[in-house]
Amino acid sequence: MERYIERIQKRKGAGRFPQGEMKKEKNRHSFSGSIGFVLAAAGSAVGLGNIWRFPYLAAKDGGGLFLVIYLILALTFGFTLLATEIAIGRKTKQSPLTAYGKLKEKWKPLGVLACLVPVIIMPYYCVIGGWVVKYLLAYLTGEGSSAAADGYFTDYIGRAGQPLLFMIVFLLIVAVIIFRGVNRGIESFSKILMPLLLLMVVGIAVFSLTIKFTDGNGVTRTGMEGFQIYVIPNLEGLTIKGFFTVLVDAMGQLFFSLSVAMGIMIAYGSYVKDDANLVKSINQIEIFDTAVAFLAGVMILPAVYTFMGREGMEASGPSLMFVSLPKVFASMGKAGNGIGALFFAMVLFAALTSAVSVMEAVVSSIMDKFHVSRIKAAVIETVIALAGGVLVCLGYNNLYFDIVLPNGAHAQILDVMDYISNNCLMPLVAIGTCILIGWVVKPAAVIEEAEKTGCRFGRKRLYIVMVRYIAPALLVVLLLKSIGILSVI
Ligand code: PHE
Repeated sequence: MERYIERIQKRKGAGRFPQGEMKKEKNRHSFSGSIGFVLAAAGSAVGLGNIWRFPYLAAKDGGGLFLVIYLILALTFGFTLLATEIAIGRKTKQSPLTAYGKLKEKWKPLGVLACLVPVIIMPYYCVIGGWVVKYLLAYLTGEGSSAAADGYFTDYIGRAGQPLLFMIVFLLIVAVIIFRGVNRGIESFSKILMPLLLLMVVGIAVFSLTIKFTDGNGVTRTGMEGFQIYVIPNLEGLTIKGFFTVLVDAMGQLFFSLSVAMGIMIAYGSYVKDDANLVKSINQIEIFDTAVAFLAGVMILPAVYTFMGREGMEASGPSLMFVSLPKVFASMGKAGNGIGALFFAMVLFAALTSAVSVMEAVVSSIMDKFHVSRIKAAVIETVIALAGGVLVCLGYNNLYFDIVLPNGAHAQILDVMDYISNNCLMPLVAIGTCILIGWVVKPAAVIEEAEKTGCRFGRKRLYIVMVRYIAPALLVVLLLKSIGILSVI
């Protein structure tokens, strides 16, 4: 391995990105500095997954055990995928749709696939964003307690008018940010929202640790007890099979959480200046994303445990956010409405910065491929997302039908789109990217790109082994698991 690294470093030009084709894109915008880039990328990474999935998985998979495995994977597997995509973006100065083809002509189709993912995600992400807007308004107008009633959520999403309206509101906010461009839009928006989001998460987490509640049976539970369930490793009855479940859960979560395999990090990487320290930025993005995920657990699990007991900790996804948590806020008495409003404002910020990145991946692709203006590209993507969003909303109304997915889950249109993008396309894109960089273009290209400014790529050996062998192998396991073929683990 030592020799391999030396060889690739000596052999200048070998395993590099094709230089001749790398015309400087003079008019391309760029982030003004590394803070702007890190906050924008962290804004993409910190999303609904951090809030509604990470805490649940941690509670289900043995608390601290999950946390440790997640952290190890973040520093190895996550680092590899993130570094690869950001380096591809910065080197090619292209959007996902065109970047792969620029690296190797024959690999163009992978770019199409990578760009398809955000096209599919955007419509349903806006629908969920619209639900968040609705709940925030409910708490802001002091009607939060009605959201705690049984059936409120399913009644609401089944309606024809409001969900559509709020989906459009969410989409338009995102579109305006994209219209304003990389600096005045994405960057300045992330620089305001991300520090605010962090502050809110820390504030709610601290509050969560201080609560105490005695239920109807006279049992008193405290936030600190819930916190202990979250962080203390529970190895009781752990089997090999159980360990694999934890591993695959952590891997799937990390993969989704870092916003890789959907072209986003390539698009954002293409806006990073050539003199920026990539390695440092990548580490900071990972730390931000993991810290917010961990804090989301501190925010949610103690509160849910205190007011709903251990069973409450079993909810995840939309049912955690839109059904369980409103009940928790209602049990908090007077403080509930304010905490609820703060919580949904925070979720809205997280969802907005993620949606902005999804839209940018598509808009930059349209711009690079068809050489149209930002405004035109953004209008095209807004219309596509709008049409898709209407379909998704109607999936709970006029177009309601119950589809059973290959993995056995019952689904509506939203879930079908989620399944196609997350379970099938994303692992495929990531496997393709690893093969392209690991075996065709060669890992040296990424290492060289990262070290261009003289910074040290500390985990070289690890990176090479990861991108060539381990990451693709883990991704194949993930793909088989998510399409329901591998049900043993
Ligand atoms: N990374 C985001 C999260 O953890 C998810 C995301 C999905 C981001 C789709 C952008 C687009 O929630």
